[in-house]
Amino acid sequence: MKHSTLDILIPLPKDVILAEGHIALRSLDTLFAVEAGRGAAEEIHRGFEWLRLPVRDVASQADAKICLELQADMGKEEWRLQVTMEKITIASGSSVGLRYAANALSQMAFYASQCGTENAYLDCGMVKDAPRFDYRGFMLDSVRHFQKPQTICKFLRLLAVNRINKFHWHLTDNQGWRLPSTLAAKVSGHGTAEDGCYSREDLKEIVKQASELGIQIIPEIDVPGHSKLLITAYPEYSCEHKPTYEFCIGNPKSLEFIKGLYDELMELFPESEEIHLGGDEAVTDGWEKCPLCQKAMKDKGLKTMRELESDFMSELCRHIASKGRRPRIWGSCNGQVYSPDIMLQAWLDIREPLRIAPHGNKVVYSVHTSLYLDYPANAFEPQENWMFALPEEGVYMTDPYVIWENKVKDTIIGPETCLWTEQVPEWRIFQKVMSRIAAYSEVAWTNPAQKDYHDFCIRKATLATAGWNDYIASN
Ligand code: ACM
Ligand code: ZN
Repeated sequence: MKHSTLDILIPLPKDVILAEGHIALRSLDTLFAVEAGRGAAEEIHRGFEWLRLPVRDVASQADAKICLELQADMGKEEWRLQVTMEKITIASGSSVGLRYAANALSQMAFYASQCGTENAYLDCGMVKDAPRFDYRGFMLDSVRHFQKPQTICKFLRLLAVNRINKFHWHLTDNQGWRLPSTLAAKVSGHGTAEDGCYSREDLKEIVKQASELGIQIIPEIDVPGHSKLLITAYPEYSCEHKPTYEFCIGNPKSLEFIKGLYDELMELFPESEEIHLGGDEAVTDGWEKCPLCQKAMKDKGLKTMRELESDFMSELCRHIASKGRRPRIWGSCNGQVYSPDIMLQAWLDIREPLRIAPHGNKVVYSVHTSLYLDYPANAFEPQENWMFALPEEGVYMTDPYVIWENKVKDTIIGPETCLWTEQVPEWRIFQKVMSRIAAYSEVAWTNPAQKDYHDFCIRKATLATAGWNDYIASN
């Protein structure tokens, strides 16, 4: 099937209404944008310049062939793009929606000019679009391999083009600590890859860039496990003061130390509404043998170390909430139950949200077999034997509700794909992501009943041939 320039888009929009007629791409040489549309206008300039189509800013709507306007009754991410034989009009409820529409217009222009811009036309009609999920996340592990701040900024641009609006940033783990910190000065700047650490200035720049692109950052300090580097430097916070992977959860001093670390984190990310506390894969062996942990468990009237761990994490979550931020932790590996105001991130199996739903927590869907992009996209990629295969089609077929929409619709707020980087050095992250991010963008954005893998492959290949991938990878 030959696509019109309106339905070639990725992610596929909600409504496409074709009309009679065309407009010549070369005639779209003037642009008017309201102030909130400056970022979107820059996107159009960038896309059209790539195609060697000059566009000039003009001061009045009447003189413009491309108009960007705000529409008070539209949602923040809702957008509309109308093509008539005279002009293009783009409207949204916010600067973010205008950006999405601007990128959609660039995709149309790339497709139209596959055989040169001389005889390129856009089809007339209307695209009306809005996301399926308000939450569309991407997690990047910057610990196992560090990425330079410039790489993070480039990465954020790639996310924005794919309409991903949450950047969950894994910043601490056994191998490294990537944050500037006064309290943890001994590890601040010590990691594996290049002993990398983001400076305060780097983080300010990244926070600013994310905000301009309409992306919220969810920074993570992972405790009580995944903390070997920190604990090796500060063994007084571990059970029996040994360098282990877990904090001592019976020692009130470790609780106070960690609260201080989150306070520093919240200062570094002033716009982040959500803070991730980790909470995954801690083992109980050290706690079982530790007099402080045993005493804390008994004093609190708890029966197991898993209960003590929940108590410890819940106290940290209350601390985050007391600062006006929302706490999130990785889903319950070991059957822990958390109070409903704590957001959980399901990663273990497709039934995890079903188990959580009765407890009332909101859930982000990141089930590893469907959404861990460190897993190989094909059999030829280097892979560890614990990895599952995750080809593009597997990502495309993912749906956070699986088959239980009526049971989990009020629980799941949206998907989040994760790129862990044990096996992914910095130079490899775009390779890992480019093979599957377009498919993921339709998981997060497009109504599932409209999705069709065959049609997606045609759109993706067509846009790639038209140069779209080269363009977005170069940003
Ligand atoms: C995880 O994969 N450990 C959340
Ligand atoms: Zn202990």
